[in-house]
Amino acid sequence: MPDWVEVANEDEFEGAVICVDYDGIEIAIFKLEDGYYAIDDECSHAVASLSEGKIEDSCIIKCPKHGATFDIKTGENLSFPAVEPVASYPVRCEDGKIFIDVD
Ligand code: FES
Repeated sequence: MPDWVEVANEDEFEGAVICVDYDGIEIAIFKLEDGYYAIDDECSHAVASLSEGKIEDSCIIKCPKHGATFDIKTGENLSFPAVEPVASYPVRCEDGKIFIDVD
């Protein structure tokens, strides 16, 4: 059963990504052309913030530390040195508020 939690407002976005804290977990919220997506902010390879990385090909985030890439829509790891995905969370937007499903 979904457990929707409000984590941000649409007007917080000055660019394509913000990082929010939910219960001690840093989560990167991306605003892409077709909607919002949320993945864990911490790279699965080592300690680095994916929200500080570079977005490539409209839905890929490149880790700023060693360059691993992840699918923003699924959290799937796409290139080394990351060999594990990062968690992804369903997102919905309602009345300018952004919710993620943390179930
Ligand atoms: S910390 Fe992200 S690729 Fe190494």
